[in-house]
Parts: sequence; C-alpha cells; structure tokens
Amino acid sequence: MKQAGFKRIICGIAISLFASAASGQMVFRSAVTGDELDLTEGLEEGRDTPAVQNFMQTGVNIYNEDEEALPRGESLFATACSACHGHVGEGKIGPSLNTDRWDYELNTDKGLFEVIYGGATRQMGPQYEVLTQDDMLHVMAWIRHLYTGPAEYTEWFTDEQRARFTPYEGE
Ligand code: HEC
Repeated sequence: MKQAGFKRIICGIAISLFASAASGQMVFRSAVTGDELDLTEGLEEGRDTPAVQNFMQTGVNIYNEDEEALPRGESLFATACSACHGHVGEGKIGPSLNTDRWDYELNTDKGLFEVIYGGATRQMGPQYEVLTQDDMLHVMAWIRHLYTGPAEYTEWFTDEQRARFTPYEGE
C-alpha cells in the first residue's frame, strides 16, 4: 500500500516536470507570496513580441545593452519609476535599483521581472496595468544599464551583452 502511494507521488512529479518542459514556459512567481503569477493579467498588447516570447522561454532579455532599445527603456523609467526610485535608480521612496544590494532576488532578470510584473509591498504595486510586458523588458534593460556595481556580478547578461556593458557613469 505504502509503496503504491509513493509510486503515485513520483509519477505525479514526473508528469508535472514533463508538462512544464513541454510548454517550455518558465514559471514566474510573486516576489512576496511565491504564488504563480498569471501572465494573462493586464495589458494585452506587447505580449507577443520576439523579446517577450524569448524571455518567457529563457529568462534572457534581448534588450539588455541594445542601443536601439535603451532610449525607450529610459523614457518609460522616467515616467513610471523614477519618482520613487530616483533619476538614475539611486533610490528615493523606493530602494535603489542601481547597485547589487537588493531586497528581492534581482540577481536574475526573471527575479527583476517578477517584482515589476507582480509588485512587492507598500507603494510597489504590480505594473501590469501600466506597462506592457514588452515595456517591462525595456525598463528592465534600462535598469541594468544604470547598474554601477562590478561588471563580473552581472549574471543577467549574456556573454555578448556583458562585453558591451560598462558601469553607468552618466547624468
Ligand atoms: C509609488 C512609488 C513606486 C513606483 C512608482 C515604483 N516603485 Fe518600485 N518600489 C517602491 C517601493 C516602496 C519598493 C519596496 C517594496 C518592498 O520592499 O516590498 C519598491 C521595490 C522595487 C523593486 C525591488 C527592489 C529590491 O531591492 O529588491 C524593484 C525591482 C522595483 N521596485 C522596480 C520598479 C520599477 C521598474 C518601477 C517602474 C515601472 C517601479 N518600481 C515603480 C516604490 C515604487
């Protein structure tokens, strides 16, 4: 009896592993509760761009250090985030975003997306009503561009993105 129950559990685990591998989709979770985020919430447009599709499968943001994408990220950050996080992400009402001292798991772009999409506590509400998923990837690329910490800790970059990156010294 005991063994049959055990087998059923193993079988269940195997099926769910297979199901998530088959869909190829990463699972994104609330940074606060750990509950799975519903990625169909919020604005409908901007969910099917190549960048979003790639991100959902791999967790890699192709806009990182992409000269053509950064200006859009900069302008979205200025309107939607800088009032609380500071002009260059140095922190204000909200914590700084330009160093490697984070409260949540921002050492990956998956973790960064989870906070932006799903929100955190206090004034940090979910941004899915304000920004499309494609906008979020642009804002994230700008946040990574503002990073002033050591370049070797930039786990979120691909090797090629890291080669293009120099810690931000701009205004
Ligand atoms: C109304 C103020 C406000 C706005 C607007 C705002 N934030 Fe925040 N943000 C906060 C606060 C406060 C926290 C701290 C929340 C916590 O600790 O749970 C926070 C936390 C964060 C964190 C986690 C920081 C860490 O150390 O782990 C990230 C990432 C973040 N915000 C990104 C953004 C982005 C990107 C935008 C714009 C799209 C934005 N926020 C807009 C107030 C704001």
